[in-house]
Amino acid sequence: MIASTKAAETKAVSTASAHADRFDELDQLLVAQAHFWQIRPFHSRELVWRHSHPDLCTALLELTADDVAQLESNTTALAHWLRPWLGNDGERLLALERLVPLPQRSLAVPLRFDTGIPGRKWQQVQALAAVLPAEQQPVLEWCAGKGYLGRLLAQVDGRDVVSLEWQETLCRAGQSAADEASLPVRFVQADALADSSVGWLPTNGQVVALHACGDLHTTLMRHWVASDSQRLTLSPCCYHLIGSDGYLPLSKRAAASRLRLAKLDLQLPLREVVTGGRGAGRKRHIEVLWRLAFDEWQREERGCDQYLPLPAFPKSFLAGSFADFVVWAAQTKGLAPPSSLNEAHWLQCGQARLSLVRRMELVSHLFRRPLEVWLLLDRALYLAEHGARVRIGTFCDWSVTPRNLVIDAQRA
Ligand SMILES: C[S@@+](CC[C@H](N)C(=O)[O-])C[C@H]1O[C@@H](n2cnc3c(N)ncnc32)[C@H](O)[C@@H]1O
Repeated sequence: MIASTKAAETKAVSTASAHADRFDELDQLLVAQAHFWQIRPFHSRELVWRHSHPDLCTALLELTADDVAQLESNTTALAHWLRPWLGNDGERLLALERLVPLPQRSLAVPLRFDTGIPGRKWQQVQALAAVLPAEQQPVLEWCAGKGYLGRLLAQVDGRDVVSLEWQETLCRAGQSAADEASLPVRFVQADALADSSVGWLPTNGQVVALHACGDLHTTLMRHWVASDSQRLTLSPCCYHLIGSDGYLPLSKRAAASRLRLAKLDLQLPLREVVTGGRGAGRKRHIEVLWRLAFDEWQREERGCDQYLPLPAFPKSFLAGSFADFVVWAAQTKGLAPPSSLNEAHWLQCGQARLSLVRRMELVSHLFRRPLEVWLLLDRALYLAEHGARVRIGTFCDWSVTPRNLVIDAQRA
């Protein structure tokens, strides 16, 4: 008995120390190479490394659009291409960002259980449920949406599920789907950020969260460490959706790091959209082009060579004309809208900026996943500091969702 407890402790310690080692090495590389990824490509009309690395700028400008696209889609080739400036740090980052899939069980799912669940979401939900061992304890599903994950766990394990979600329509839809299948699922319409939501963590139970954004999942983690809930299985997303100005580290190690992350830095891991398909990719291209073309116009209009960020806007705008977009953007920023606009000219200026932005982002792309793994490790270390045994890994393929990382913590 003592021997097996010791073995479990040793394993837990070695896992925690493996997380700490990986974190330290990633941290050192991210800090050392920060000038290659803590950049603001939208703000600059020239390549940001023109003084520090003119040879890199020349090489970037010599790349064709096809070269850029190929390097964007192949980080191994990108690390090789960047060797003159990064040495072998690129390859070390790629090794450190690599996480293995967590083991999965097979689930006995009745035919047509997935009716009404979007295909890709269904793949994610099944994959995350399969990471959890078959157990009977009650489950809280945090920020549940329509509660697909909770419903599946209720089905395959027969466990009681509480699904917490703040949007009434989602709660209603989720509850009626669960009721139709006579599953022991109860939706609770509540604000996850309210102090009272801690009360929904099940005693001796488990908590799951699929793609809970920024503060929503860090709040859950804080509640979990203070509770007696046994297991927390969490797939984080949208690290930048936080109430604070910049990133507030969770673990002692991250708090001791020299890395200071602004919200814009926290968006870096999300800048890789494979799930949208061609339509969404084309819309994103037009949006970025219009934003940059407007930026060119506003700098001349104001006589001020400074970036003016625009808020998010409905994608339906993109079906209209660029001239209409400029009128909206000017009004939004308190500028007089143009009485007439040379659309072709400003779009050409925007295109030139877009070409520069893509080249700057190309370099920073090598750091997207390493930064995401750094953030994941901060969470894992925080939970380990509070006595949990923590596994990290992937729960599905990157092509199913780029947000495919998972933390699985158990009370030690
Ligand atoms: C990215 S979605 C994930 C939904 C679901 N877990 C899934 O993967 O399909 C995040 C969910 O969090 C919910 N949410 C956002 N803020 C919330 C809050 N303050 N309290 C509770 N739920 C919230 C949203 O309504 C949304 O359903």
